[in-house]
Amino acid sequence: MSDIHLQIDGKEVHVTEGMTVLEAAQQARIAIPTLCYHETLEPYGGCRLCIVEVEVNGWSRLVVSCVYPAAAGLIVRTRSAQIDRIRKTLLEMLLAHAPDSPVLQELAAEYGAQRDRFAQEASFCIHCGLCVRYCAEVKQAHAVGFIDRGIRKEISFIPEIAARECHDCKECFPLCPTSYVQAAYVLVEALVALR
Ligand code: SF4
Ligand code: FES
Repeated sequence: MSDIHLQIDGKEVHVTEGMTVLEAAQQARIAIPTLCYHETLEPYGGCRLCIVEVEVNGWSRLVVSCVYPAAAGLIVRTRSAQIDRIRKTLLEMLLAHAPDSPVLQELAAEYGAQRDRFAQEASFCIHCGLCVRYCAEVKQAHAVGFIDRGIRKEISFIPEIAARECHDCKECFPLCPTSYVQAAYVLVEALVALR
């Protein structure tokens, strides 16, 4: 793996080939907001909050930084009026699902996102997939997964596996930006106790 140089927010950054733009920014201590990224997990690109502008050969476009590879000569801008507007709208859509999430509220304050812009459909889960992917990729337990698709998509613990794996683990709890995974686990624990 060779070293490459790119520019992020006007700063020259030296990283190893194979890193993403998000990882390059993190290495340079340049903050990009994320909701579905975790350093131990495969890139997912689900929440879109980490979008940035990249310029290659004079052409600019918006990309998802947690899945976009850092490349030599790339010019990256992590903030602009357009980026901030998109992040604001994304946050407003997520707040409709989880209006009380401290993580979302903190980001909303930074981007001026309104909590009540969209009609509330409090599902509490924002589908970041952190709990599901952590359980599968790191713990290889597959105790929690997504069921259904589209607007009906939700996480669900598999009672037989949860009864065996989760009590002494719970490592997904602090990863959840809305605390919904804790609530879902309490429910499955109660169901298992009734058996
Ligand atoms: S329960 Fe939490 S961690 Fe799991 S997908 Fe939903 S928001 Fe993400
Ligand atoms: S952190 Fe990149 S899409 Fe969620």
